[in-house]
Amino acid sequence: MQAIVVRQHGAPEVLQLETLPDPVAGSGEIRVRVAAIGVNPYDTYMRAGGYANAPDCPYIPGADAAGVIDQIGPGVTGLSVGERVYVGGTAAGKSHGAYASLVVCRPTQVHALPAHLTFAQGAAIHVPYATAWRALFGRAQLKAGETVFVHGGSGAVGLATIQIARAAGHTVVATASTPEGTALAQQAGAAHVFNHRTPGYLDQVAAALPGGPSVIVEMLANVNLDHDLTLLARHGRIVVVGNRGRIEIDPRKIMGKEAGVYGMALWNLSEDELAGIHGQLAAGLAGGALSPVVNVELPLAEAPRAHALIMEPGARGKIVLAP
Ligand SMILES: NC(=O)c1ccc[n+]([C@@H]2O[C@H](COP(=O)([O-])OP(=O)(O)OC[C@H]3O[C@@H](n4cnc5c(N)ncnc54)[C@H](OP(=O)(O)O)[C@@H]3O)[C@@H](O)[C@H]2O)c1
Repeated sequence: MQAIVVRQHGAPEVLQLETLPDPVAGSGEIRVRVAAIGVNPYDTYMRAGGYANAPDCPYIPGADAAGVIDQIGPGVTGLSVGERVYVGGTAAGKSHGAYASLVVCRPTQVHALPAHLTFAQGAAIHVPYATAWRALFGRAQLKAGETVFVHGGSGAVGLATIQIARAAGHTVVATASTPEGTALAQQAGAAHVFNHRTPGYLDQVAAALPGGPSVIVEMLANVNLDHDLTLLARHGRIVVVGNRGRIEIDPRKIMGKEAGVYGMALWNLSEDELAGIHGQLAAGLAGGALSPVVNVELPLAEAPRAHALIMEPGARGKIVLAP
């Protein structure tokens, strides 16, 4: 098979395309012939080194993929060769092993890919949508009638969060920094989208959601957390999904509003918990309310370029690699 291998941590150029022996589905495993691979920011943090939960080198990066089941190991029931699936984690690990033309998974790591979704869209489901679902319902405990502010709505997780919250009937306000990202967030269902690079945009959010948002899903907490605490409704909840540094906050704002500030990291969830979330997403994916947005598809050999691109501003959905 073809795979990207990280033999030492470092810059994107350490991602090297190699030819490796084809893996075989062992007992209780299935093998997927991969058509598309999703690139996530944490693939880059792991590659760079010094990141919690990073596998030892050498390893194959990537948690997300989509393709067709081409081998079923002994003891597996309920799955068939030829089924279109999306993949969330591999037998090698919850968060690596997917940048390859063949992946071996446990049955809880593969989920039916509806016929109307492309493989590229399938590769854009697991991390973004499971993260969004976990943030809204697992951590913030979003309730009927509550409003949601997605602080960073143009990327893969942000668009998934908008779609999931809208599908559940909530009013959503979001931010983006480009006209393209703004349009995508609007198409995903945000009632208003403001530019997080424009001074005063938080006043616009406050005007759009009088009393403040009930829930804020935050993609860049090191920049925004203190502002979020100012904006938040009384008894509101902030879920820190993304963070790239340190920040000073005023805890009095948490106290005065009896607010909740929650963290989340997808790797804390067990395979069964993740499979449960994908069960919750299935109807929305099948019915079209949840529709993954693909920005660009690149050949697998261009993984270094994909890693550089995903760290640039101007997100427009998911970057996908094709083996
Ligand atoms: N905790 C977890 O388990 C978990 C899981 C998945 C992802 N994450 C993290 O969540 C973040 C988003 O992931 P992703 O896959 O959606 O990445 P992405 O596709 O690269 O999107 C990044 C988002 O952050 C926005 N952003 C940039 N500057 C911002 C600012 N000052 N204020 C608010 N938003 C800003 C971007 O908007 P523009 O580009 O339009 O400026 C874009 O919407 C990443 O940091 C990622 O590592 C965490």
